[in-house]
Amino acid sequence: MAMTPMAEPPDPVGTAPRSTALNLRVTAKTRVAEGVVALTLARPDGGRLPDWTPGAHVDLVLPGGLTRQYSLCGDRWDASTYRIGVLREPGGRGGSAFVHDELAVGDLVGIGGPRNNFRLVPAERYLFIAGGIGITPLLPMIVQAELTGIPWKLLYGGRTRSSMAFQDELSTHGDKVSFVPHDEHGPLDLAAWLNDVPDGTRVYCCGPAGLLDAVERHCADLPAGRLRLERFVAADRPAGARDDAFEVELRRSGRTLAVDRDQSLLQALGEAGVNVLSSCHQGLCGTCETTVLDGVPDHRDALLDDAERAAGDCIFVCVSRSLSDRLVLDL
Ligand code: FES
Repeated sequence: MAMTPMAEPPDPVGTAPRSTALNLRVTAKTRVAEGVVALTLARPDGGRLPDWTPGAHVDLVLPGGLTRQYSLCGDRWDASTYRIGVLREPGGRGGSAFVHDELAVGDLVGIGGPRNNFRLVPAERYLFIAGGIGITPLLPMIVQAELTGIPWKLLYGGRTRSSMAFQDELSTHGDKVSFVPHDEHGPLDLAAWLNDVPDGTRVYCCGPAGLLDAVERHCADLPAGRLRLERFVAADRPAGARDDAFEVELRRSGRTLAVDRDQSLLQALGEAGVNVLSSCHQGLCGTCETTVLDGVPDHRDALLDDAERAAGDCIFVCVSRSLSDRLVLDL
């Protein structure tokens, strides 16, 4: 299937989470591709960092309080360092430029998380598909698949070969990895990779929206849960989403609030003095996840899959609203 040349995704943008768990020191900064640097982060005292699993990300808190979410792409068994890959995003709001141009080895940065919205679940085999910097969450998944002896393949596309990060470490896996720079090979042949996915295969894809949308179309007939996507930007809002005002009952605190049509659920909660941790404000990072006890959420996040949406038992209050007149939350 024809695709346009890959545009690299912008950094997710948000404001500082209401708590930053860690201040970490930049212990290494390495150029790993054209426009991509890898940062190694460690506690100033060299102590142990919170555990994480493949697919997890952290919030990087930058001067001015803005945050960006970056997938952890290092060795999860190394408890003393985190590694992230940062793409310079010319159209971004300065976060990636700050990391590239100003952040230096020895500096301290605030880190929130880690948090995992893109978990690697058991499968008979994996098909990984990456576009550009979307390779980062897949790197530890590949390590995990190798450790557990699960067969896997990676289709890795990018604008040019020089823009594709972490090729050296991926090249050690031989023909399990297919590098497809657009300027050499044209668009990814998703039909060849996805039209006959063997039973028992789980497909994990991360990259720009155009790639994710195309993979989603090719996998439309796969059973629920077989495709997992991680988006850098929120998906287009579904048709039929409703902006009406609604009521939210906070069951544990015994309060009921009105959410006006021109405010988010997160804003309504904040104005009522109900603190819900938040970061990206785009339905991307998972920080604001809240349990739903009753009512029908109008999911507008880029995190839940169809089965999770249908379950209706959680909501990301920064973007999602309610399809029912009343929503009951575990707050
Ligand atoms: S704050 Fe990131 S998903 Fe809501």
